[in-house]
Amino acid sequence: MKLPCELRQAVTTPFSETLKNATWADHESAEGESYLAELMGGRLSEHEYGEMVSQHYFAYIALDGLSRQLADHPVAGRFVFPELYRERALERDLATIYGPSWRSRIAPSKATRTLVARIHQMADWPSGYIAHHYTRYLGDLSGGQFIRMELQKIYGYGTGGGVDFYIFDGLGSLPRFKNEYRARLDELELDDRERQRMIREVKLAYQLNTEVLAELLHVVKTAA
Ligand code: HEM
Repeated sequence: MKLPCELRQAVTTPFSETLKNATWADHESAEGESYLAELMGGRLSEHEYGEMVSQHYFAYIALDGLSRQLADHPVAGRFVFPELYRERALERDLATIYGPSWRSRIAPSKATRTLVARIHQMADWPSGYIAHHYTRYLGDLSGGQFIRMELQKIYGYGTGGGVDFYIFDGLGSLPRFKNEYRARLDELELDDRERQRMIREVKLAYQLNTEVLAELLHVVKTAA
């Protein structure tokens, strides 16, 4: 029997590809956020860059905390890689940017508190956890590498603090790791309804992360 074209595509397209295609417009909104344009254009002070690093810190405490919690879960645990954990790297970055008293300078924004609350809600829903994990980590391993190179040029950071967040030395080859990660997405045993639910959560994850960036520009402008 010959299957109709869309059905054939649905049967043969790996889930990782479906997920990327279904959410790429949301990625474009995140990538196009003005804070990133200002940052990449070298128009922000080091402390204004630190505003984003601070928000990352709170988001990754939540995300990495959930990873630790789910490490033994048969489905979610396949996406837990301690080499990805970012808290220590972010602490080094914050110490470099703000000095030893960095802890007293940082606080989660309203948008970050919303994102963190949503991440905590994923504790009982493995696909939802994977949705947030994918949105952050595959991004950090992709466009994040470009961001790192630009930040190094702008602020003159080496290693040991500043942009350690984007350095994943423990992973080996990043393209190989990303391929392995996508293979794990493809192996997820999800029916169509659950796939659609997960795609919706990735879209929400993009939106919540974009709102964090949008709020940052507001904070930076108000301070100026
Ligand atoms: C200056 C900002 C950004 C640039 C230049 C950028 C660029 C890119 C590029 C070129 C890719 C494709 C890499 C590949 O196919 O291997 C990518 C993938 C990705 N980015 Fe971004 N990105 C940016 C910001 C973001 C942000 C803010 C997020 C999330 C909040 C994000 C999440 C992702 C994800 C999840 C992927 C993986 C898509 C997939 O292969 O399934 N990116 N990015």
